[in-house]
Amino acid sequence: MNKQNNIAITFSDAQKLGQVVSVDTSRVLVAVDNAELLPRAAVGSLVAIQGTTAQEYLIGMTERVTRQLREQLATLDPLSPTELESEVVPDDAIRVVLLGTYRTVEGKQRNRFKRGADSFPQIDRECFLIEGPNLQAFMGLLGEGIAENERLEIGRFVLDPDAVAIVNGDRFFQRHASILGSTGSGKSWCVSTILEKSHSREHANLIVFDMHGEYASLADPKGKLNRSDLAPIATQYRIAGPGDLDSPPENALFLPYWLLNRDEMLSMILDRSDQNAPNQASRFTRHVRQLKKDTLTKESKSEVEKTFTVDSPIPYPIKKLLDKLKHDDTAKGTGAKGQPVKGDWEGKLTRFIARLESKLEDRRYGFMFMPPSKAQDYDWLAGQVAALLDCQKNRHGIKIIDFSEVPSDVLPVVTGVLARLLYDIQFWMKPEERTPFVFVCDEAHLYLPVRQDSSTVEKQALATFERIAKEGRKYGVSLLVVSQRPSDVSRTILSQCNNFVILRLTNDQDQNVVRRLMPDSMAGVLDGLPMLDTGEALLLGDAVLLPTRVKLSLPSIEPLSQTRNFWQDWGNLSSSEQAIRTAVETLRKQAR
Ligand SMILES: Nc1ncnc2c1ncn2[C@@H]1O[C@H](COP(=O)(O)OP(=O)(O)OP(=O)(O)O)[C@@H](O)[C@H]1O
Ligand SMILES: [Mg+2]
Repeated sequence: MNKQNNIAITFSDAQKLGQVVSVDTSRVLVAVDNAELLPRAAVGSLVAIQGTTAQEYLIGMTERVTRQLREQLATLDPLSPTELESEVVPDDAIRVVLLGTYRTVEGKQRNRFKRGADSFPQIDRECFLIEGPNLQAFMGLLGEGIAENERLEIGRFVLDPDAVAIVNGDRFFQRHASILGSTGSGKSWCVSTILEKSHSREHANLIVFDMHGEYASLADPKGKLNRSDLAPIATQYRIAGPGDLDSPPENALFLPYWLLNRDEMLSMILDRSDQNAPNQASRFTRHVRQLKKDTLTKESKSEVEKTFTVDSPIPYPIKKLLDKLKHDDTAKGTGAKGQPVKGDWEGKLTRFIARLESKLEDRRYGFMFMPPSKAQDYDWLAGQVAALLDCQKNRHGIKIIDFSEVPSDVLPVVTGVLARLLYDIQFWMKPEERTPFVFVCDEAHLYLPVRQDSSTVEKQALATFERIAKEGRKYGVSLLVVSQRPSDVSRTILSQCNNFVILRLTNDQDQNVVRRLMPDSMAGVLDGLPMLDTGEALLLGDAVLLPTRVKLSLPSIEPLSQTRNFWQDWGNLSSSEQAIRTAVETLRKQAR
């Protein structure tokens, strides 16, 4: 073990604040008689209260500091003992929330700290301020319980900038984590730092949903940041945009329509208010099933053919689906006497077909409906998934998926389909062969909205992510939810998160959501959220021993999310008509 283990925390009278005067289930009131020490016991500082034995201290955090002035009779003046005079004296107190228990000796071990108070302090017990060398020793202790190969260094403690804040990497990812904070508070940088630290694990496996193409620099620091001294740590994929369809670049990602299950597909093309919707859905289902079956027959996949369903990801030509639907829509029926009568579905599918056709023609949906011919091969899917879940030695286990050119109305379907597909494949893999992976969902409010506000398309995606949030732990699939608007993110998903990195959060509604996610005892600690500096965060959850305020480390490869300096730029950055003209054309082309 390392050296801090031997540095015992000892208290002297100089650190004695006062004694316990009131105790309830989570909070302790301490009357402070050391007026000199009071300013140093500011909100957020750590204190130790003598426990039931000499070796035990209860560790708490100052939540409130008060000084009340009181008038009392002054001590009698021996020279004029008959005159009564009053004097004003301060009553100092701090309110403390209990967080853990520290023991100088526990069995054979020395200096142990654990979460949770083992006992309640008794009235009149002494309370000490933890500062100076004691604070350093204590902060050292916090990371010590975490084994070397589980350590995720995330920053430094604000209370003691010399001490490194270490998170238990296993616990952090095991049961979902969340990074929340207002715009510009440092979330994307925090994600970069976490990715960078993860990169040091030989088989790190993370899939980043990048909504603005911010993390492109991690895959190409030379091209994006002009930093040839930095090695790339990730592979970037881009959901194919309208400009990529004719000759798709190597990293363009297609999600052909046949990967969508029945409900996902229908959420995009079926109008549920149409009186013919049930007919349309049933004809669609029947034809898709038949077309998938035809493919299996052609590919001689008789084993699959026995048990496949309409939701199985099996390629089929969309043109044939359209032909079948059109046939239904126009075919006449035959009457009792053989005369032509109105067909069973005649005219009932017209609007469904029109909606499908408009999607097929729209190049923004090309990544789905205009896949290159090789993506229509039966074996293509396995290769594509192998690339997305690749974390072999000396390859990049961090995969950045750039969604910046995906139309916003289908964003939830695309993220949802991708997540479901990878999750399902992990599900069907042998348990001993699964490398766990994490979906990093940046800007989660865009595709994981609160349920009652969501459209049919969004509900599909939500169902997938909520399923991962609830069951993913067992299959080694976890979520890292990142959002500037926690009040707009699905509560089911947030409430499944066990670890939180909370950066500056100014909005009331968002703060309330965060408060409700935390135990009651954290209320005082959370009051400081609007005051946090950029890059400062509260770490809460089972991956850290104490809820602590940390200054997050800077990533060595910055994401492309620099805050612009308006005032300085107005001093030296002129507009360029040419640049604007080019942008107008780019907007028309919908391709960079
Ligand atoms: N740990 C840090 N220390 C100092 N400055 C930081 C730190 N993290 C971020 N910053 C600064 O804050 C700016 C914004 O950070 P970032 O892009 O991470 O914000 P964000 O929370 O992701 O915002 P948005 O919600 O708008 O995406 C960065 O450009 C950087 O200058
Ligand atoms: Mg960001």
